[in-house]
Amino acid sequence: MPDVKARASLETGPPTNLKTRRGFLKAAARAAAGGLAAYLPPGCAAPGTGPGLGPGLESSGIAPTLTQVSGPRSLRAHAAEHGLLVGCAVNPDKLDGEPDYASTVADQANIVVPENALKWAALRPTPSQFDFRKADDVVVFAFSHQQKVRGHNLCWHEALPAWFRTTVTRDNAAQLLTEHIRTVAGRYAGKLHSWDVVNEAIDVKSARPDGLRDSPWLELIGPGYLELAFRTAREADGTALLTYNDYGIELDTPEQIDKRGQVMMLVRRLQARGVPIDAVGVQSHLSAGDAPGAGLLHFVRELHDMRLQVFITELDVNDRKLPDSVPERDAAVAKTYRDYLTMMLAEPNVNVALTWGITGRYTWLNGPKYARADGKPERPLPFDYDYNPTPAFFAERDAIDSRRRTALPGANPYAPFSPSGGSPQSQEKRSALDFDRGSDRKSGVVRNLASSVSV
Ligand code: G3I
Repeated sequence: MPDVKARASLETGPPTNLKTRRGFLKAAARAAAGGLAAYLPPGCAAPGTGPGLGPGLESSGIAPTLTQVSGPRSLRAHAAEHGLLVGCAVNPDKLDGEPDYASTVADQANIVVPENALKWAALRPTPSQFDFRKADDVVVFAFSHQQKVRGHNLCWHEALPAWFRTTVTRDNAAQLLTEHIRTVAGRYAGKLHSWDVVNEAIDVKSARPDGLRDSPWLELIGPGYLELAFRTAREADGTALLTYNDYGIELDTPEQIDKRGQVMMLVRRLQARGVPIDAVGVQSHLSAGDAPGAGLLHFVRELHDMRLQVFITELDVNDRKLPDSVPERDAAVAKTYRDYLTMMLAEPNVNVALTWGITGRYTWLNGPKYARADGKPERPLPFDYDYNPTPAFFAERDAIDSRRRTALPGANPYAPFSPSGGSPQSQEKRSALDFDRGSDRKSGVVRNLASSVSV
């Protein structure tokens, strides 16, 4: 039964804070007109053509100014030179309410992903309702800044709404998952770069030979839930690149070698059954000092031979084990960025790299589970707590530039699994207006699926 009270409140929508909304629109307009680049002094060199900062600056003790990292010197501009998509996970409340946040994202990213706004818990206040307002905010922001959008995620064992446990059964789980994917992927069909269709389905501690995690989806639907999710996603959106996304597969430790092998076997099984899958997301939550190994390179190349792309989906580098010396922490984090990205971005099927956030002010790593023991904010991202670029910024930018020497020329050589509906590149031409026209934003964006969801 639909929850009438909750639906009514969603239809009305929360009171709009005109002040912050105005700020949001102002930031949007500013960045649409060229972002921080608009403030650059004349004569600022284009990437690769000017003197640049070089790797030396990060250790020189000279604080970089905004003009040294924005506009033509931004990650986004350097990435464009190399045919890469770079960006970050974003929080719609900060895009709306914090101009520094909004302008940094607009300036630095040509692709964004909602960190939480597309998860079940965010979208599904009740079994029969969808609330797309926050997710729509991200898409509208991105489109007005000529950014692509990744979708994260359609099927995960975490971030499920509170009602899930009491409402979903073996009898209705497959239908609920199908309806969810049809509705969510269908809403953004033709507009997203890619979807994390299934997230984190492998658990090496699982007793199962197939390595599948003991998740609610496995328990309620069985191992076929992955195939169901991917096939439904392809039906709902013929152009988004369909991705399997996982963590803990980057290093050559025994556990990660094992997990990487299980992920590879899963992907091979899916491909063997003709399941539409276009990419593997390597989350890349790393620790300072982590070094990339030959195992990951082999994995990426094997995926290349299987005609699959690899996306770096959630890069960050925690410094929780290092002492409280900012230069020491920054140097170690930056080295990991440099080594990791230089290795990965040299591979022709690695065309996309996102960090899990843009500023140390809002990283999940400062949360209760992973925070530093001394309570100091982590410095895991290209910008620190105060929006100053970190050495990791320069390491990332250098890694982007290093691609020129090794990467295949031209745009992404891969097409999505199903050619129906045009190439992902053509999404760029679709405007925010186009998106808005097709949406029911004004009514508060609630879809009542009571008639089609059996609960
Ligand atoms: O928004 C509520 C707020 O209203 C409430 O007061 C507060 C109280 O705890 O919770 C807030 O929600 C939290 C949300 O983050 C926003 O901060 C949730 O409790 C918390 O569980 C949620 O954590 C997110 C986590 O995924 C679970 O969804 C993290 O932000 C997010 O960074 C993290 O991202 C995951 C990827 O999706 C998958 N890969 C790993 C990655 C890191 O864990």
